[in-house]
Amino acid sequence: MTIERTRTILKDLERTLLRFMRKHKITHEEYRRATDILVATVKAGEESLLYDVFFEAEATDIANIGRQGGVEAVEGPFYLPDAPKLEAPYVLPQRSDEADDVLFLRGCVMSADGTPLAGVELDMWQADAAGHYSNIHPNMPEWNLRARFHSGSDGTFEVRTIVPPPYEIPKGGPTGAVLSALGRHFFRPAHLHLKIRHPEYSELTSQLYFEGGDYLDSDVANAVREGLVTPLVRQDDPKELAARGRQKPYFEVRYDFMLVPLHAGDVRRRA
Ligand code: BEZ
Ligand code: FE
Repeated sequence: MTIERTRTILKDLERTLLRFMRKHKITHEEYRRATDILVATVKAGEESLLYDVFFEAEATDIANIGRQGGVEAVEGPFYLPDAPKLEAPYVLPQRSDEADDVLFLRGCVMSADGTPLAGVELDMWQADAAGHYSNIHPNMPEWNLRARFHSGSDGTFEVRTIVPPPYEIPKGGPTGAVLSALGRHFFRPAHLHLKIRHPEYSELTSQLYFEGGDYLDSDVANAVREGLVTPLVRQDDPKELAARGRQKPYFEVRYDFMLVPLHAGDVRRRA
């Protein structure tokens, strides 16, 4: 980002906010209330949460205009780099009694022309059955349900995890207070987060939702997009259960990721 662009954006932001204040005849008390909320989000560690709930989907939609390859999704406030690297067969790190149904996510990573891509890093993170993210919420093992793994020589991958529940924004903090004032609910539909990386391709931030899930049409972060909602298939065939050594029915999601070469991605970003 150049200093010229930074200045252009900051000047317009200032102008827009001043016009907004004049339009609504914002009082000094109201102005102070707004700055208090912003300060409170920082004190509560919720600054990313507040902004991501209201604005990240818009930045992602702008990034998707004219984009080739897979749909870019919001990252959200809970991504952490340097998650543990897994050895195959891939299982997201989890407690021995991790609650909720078992989920196998599998698919293929390919380039826009359908060529399967080997050695692609998939960096995955998700909430547990209580809707908590490890390394963020207390009393959870480090890196629980967060890890990196790779596509195989034929571009395919499979990882075992759990089906997450819808995610509830913390109600007790400043973000919750703003949502309450707006009369909104606090939920995002259940989802899995992934970042897909290959040195020669543009990084893709994805997020997968499950068909028929709650809050798909009323996501508090307004981030559900066509192409990211996948069937969640319940598997109870005794033969399949035996083949995977599972005693109880489990769920499957199949999703293919499409990457665009770094050069094409760069051109798109500059356009
Ligand atoms: C999430 O994906 O967890 C998330 C995204 C935007 C706002 C809050 C949470
Ligand atoms: Fe999330």
